[in-house]
Amino acid sequence: DYRTCPLVPGSWSADRILTSQQQNKKIVIFYGSQTGTAEDYGTRIAKEAKARFGLSSLVCDPEEYDFDNLDTIPEDALVVFCMATYGEGEPTDNAVQLMDFLKEEPQFANGSSLENLKYVVFGLGNSTYEHFNAMARILDDRLTELGAKRVGPRGEGDDDKSMEEDYLAWKDTMFEAVHKELGWEEGAGGDVADFEVHELDQVDEAKVYLGELSARALNATRGVYDAKNPYPAPLISAKELFEDGERNCVFAEFDISDSGIRYQTGDHVGLWPVNPSDEVERFLHILGLEGKRHQPIDVKSLDPALAKVPFPVPTTYETIFRHYLDISAPASRQTVGQCAKYAPNDEARAMLERLGSDKQYYHDQVGAKCLRLSQVLMLAAGDAPNTSNPTKWAIPVDRVIGAIHRLQPRYYSISSSPKMHPNSIHVTAVVLKYEPVEGANHVFGVGTNYLLNLKNAANGTLDKVNKREEGAPIYHLEGPRGKYKRGTQFAAPVHVRRSNFRLPTSPKVPIVMIGPGTGVAPFRGFLQDRVALARKAKEKSGPDALADWGTIDLFYGCRRSTWDFLYRDEWDEYAKELDGKFRMHCAFSRETDKPKVYVQQLLREEGDRIGKALVDNKGYAYICGDAGSMAKAVERELVSILGKAKGGSDAEGEKELKLLKDRNRLLLDVWS
Ligand code: 2AM
Repeated sequence: DYRTCPLVPGSWSADRILTSQQQNKKIVIFYGSQTGTAEDYGTRIAKEAKARFGLSSLVCDPEEYDFDNLDTIPEDALVVFCMATYGEGEPTDNAVQLMDFLKEEPQFANGSSLENLKYVVFGLGNSTYEHFNAMARILDDRLTELGAKRVGPRGEGDDDKSMEEDYLAWKDTMFEAVHKELGWEEGAGGDVADFEVHELDQVDEAKVYLGELSARALNATRGVYDAKNPYPAPLISAKELFEDGERNCVFAEFDISDSGIRYQTGDHVGLWPVNPSDEVERFLHILGLEGKRHQPIDVKSLDPALAKVPFPVPTTYETIFRHYLDISAPASRQTVGQCAKYAPNDEARAMLERLGSDKQYYHDQVGAKCLRLSQVLMLAAGDAPNTSNPTKWAIPVDRVIGAIHRLQPRYYSISSSPKMHPNSIHVTAVVLKYEPVEGANHVFGVGTNYLLNLKNAANGTLDKVNKREEGAPIYHLEGPRGKYKRGTQFAAPVHVRRSNFRLPTSPKVPIVMIGPGTGVAPFRGFLQDRVALARKAKEKSGPDALADWGTIDLFYGCRRSTWDFLYRDEWDEYAKELDGKFRMHCAFSRETDKPKVYVQQLLREEGDRIGKALVDNKGYAYICGDAGSMAKAVERELVSILGKAKGGSDAEGEKELKLLKDRNRLLLDVWS
């Protein structure tokens, strides 16, 4: 296995694998990846190097390597670090070990210098977060300090704008610089396929993956449920928390009894959606595969180091489009450009070539409208947008597999507490639907619309509701071999992802929670947690059990008190059980005849008390929701509050805020 040999002391040495003639690998690419994006970019760098220079790469998970022989990598090799920055400026889980190793005084095989090492860095980050691309920057500085030589510009992808364009711009200048520095010959490679697809004549049907997400699921072997083997959790109840024709917010409760799954308040649940059925059909038609949708196929990687088959095989054409590939994602400029040569006619080809090479044209026609690949192909071929018989394109399936990412789970902050609901996981999600630019077709979020379909199916209203809205996606919910359907009940594959969004263990410590909109999701869990604790305490010590508890403040915001107020009926109940320790502050932003109020304003009004709770009583603060303007505005307010509480200026407040963050007493669960 290529993953277990190189760079591991006692196994093969780095120089052996990297200079090996038959392997011809001159490039090692490490990816610090949490959800697979950085890994995908790492693989793309490898493919690009092969196409441009005919050079093969090793694409490596840093977690699987020791780094003390980083200095034995030969001088004519290149190491690429493709590093995502996660959460609040943290490394991704798989890069923790690498970053820790470099941070101390690392001892390498031949000493402490990396003077032979040539490297480049591409960072993946989001500029709405404070520590933009921190990992890429820290790594870059540290490698330089240790004597290594950066041989091309550092790239900093910004997910808030366009990661894709940042990558495309960076990789061209990077390859230009690297090929000069390392003397690589240009043009040695060519356009190469990554995969080979074989249609199978004879196959044991029980062994064909029809959407199962793991071998354990296919073979029904018992085992742990985790991210590699999600649990098909039955949906036990679901409802609309509010629904105003424009927006829906879904509450869903998944049953995890019998699964062995445990969660903690503040964790996330990953939900594995499928693609909408009409999108699956469009793809099958465009590729001319609708007649062979159930054909069993095998897919092999032509260079496993460069590209792994992104889903389990054998499988079928229909399955890969429904369950495994992210065909609903906006089409990237590079993918669109690569499809040009398979166009059905000259006009379509010309359009795709232009889209591939003209950034502005791509932005106007595709990027700004968030068009999916099928929509771009249909547009280029002049098809009517809702035709059921789009023009066929001769794009080989292996190319499609190479160009489209694997469908990923969608993560939601869990809004229940295991102390109150040990056997179920609650989800609160606004159903994503928006008009990307005026007049464009609506974009429907894959995960939340899947949830909405599940909710409608659970309540027996699927057919009625699905017909309601033009273009709203409809999903096949029964799962592989009908496994997600039990009588009238549906299940969806889920797994739990741990977070560091945690309550202080002792209820004496005050907590301040700020979560407008669905940002309130984890705080419902927090309150349930404290209520469960309160019940126990009262059982044990009587009615005054909460006397020494810290205060619990929740700042919540929505448009109107009578409209989109989430869990409106529950908060009073929690307050009663928490004996006045809990106070809810509501900011309504669109109440008729009243001025707009936001959570940060209410926070300011309570500033003195909140400041004392956080500074004098060593309280914990939590922000959840919109990472952009909301979280920033709230942090600004906290700076001012903390400054005052310290008896000083905003500068003092800044220091205190940083301290709270460093000590994990200010925790964020935010998204953009
Ligand atoms: P809105 O009426 O302006 O949309 C949940 O979405 C609540 O958060 C809504 O009341 C929304 O108000 C409000 N909100 C929007 N932007 C915000 C911001 N920058 N800071 C705080 N709250 C905000």
